[in-house]
Amino acid sequence: MIFAANFKTNHTRASTEKYIEVLNEKLLEKKPEDQVYIFPPATALGKYEGDFTLGAQNAYPTQNGAFTGEIGTEQLEEFGIKTILIGHSERREHLGESQDKVAQKFTFFKEQGYEILYCIGEPLEIREKGDEAVMEYLLAQFDGIDISYKDLIVAYEPIWAIGTGRSATVEEIASTHQALKQTVQKPLLYGGSVKPANIQEITAIRGVDGVLVGSASLDVESFATMIGEK
Ligand code: G3P
Repeated sequence: MIFAANFKTNHTRASTEKYIEVLNEKLLEKKPEDQVYIFPPATALGKYEGDFTLGAQNAYPTQNGAFTGEIGTEQLEEFGIKTILIGHSERREHLGESQDKVAQKFTFFKEQGYEILYCIGEPLEIREKGDEAVMEYLLAQFDGIDISYKDLIVAYEPIWAIGTGRSATVEEIASTHQALKQTVQKPLLYGGSVKPANIQEITAIRGVDGVLVGSASLDVESFATMIGEK
């Protein structure tokens, strides 16, 4: 099972260091087959020791250059970072990332040999139209994406479930994951209001290979509880 924590625009370098110190003690009891990922904000990236993978929430598809406000692979690799999140709905929605831009990033980071955690998800108005509309919407988010890439993990995060406290139901997750698995034979995570109270039922769903957690990952005790309670 994969447990990934996306801090989004939360935590500082100091609090991330503290978090990792506590997490490392908790991870001593982690099952060897479980994998843990931490995606802190860019200012908290660093060389941390531990039984987890540190990844970037975002980067520009460049090694370096004139892209004010962005970071590229030169900055990531200073810390040995070779894992990146691409396609998160917040970047698509608030940062104006079109499918073309997302695909351009995907291709660049694939060519650089990065492990890519690629996010897809539908808005509520699409979910309300039913399963067929959901699948059509989700599959369009694979346009320009090489789904055979060996270091690809996919995260299904329904937008209406992100940060709302309202997770998708077990049935919604199960049917969407099973449908997606027919197209993408890669580890498939669920994200959207995953928390200690629902981690067991979500990780028990067939076709769920792990979780991508936002709000409930910010507290290390909460995140560690989820890893332990699978
Ligand atoms: O990437 C994780 C995410 O978007 C889910 O956020 O706060 O609903 O767990 P949250």
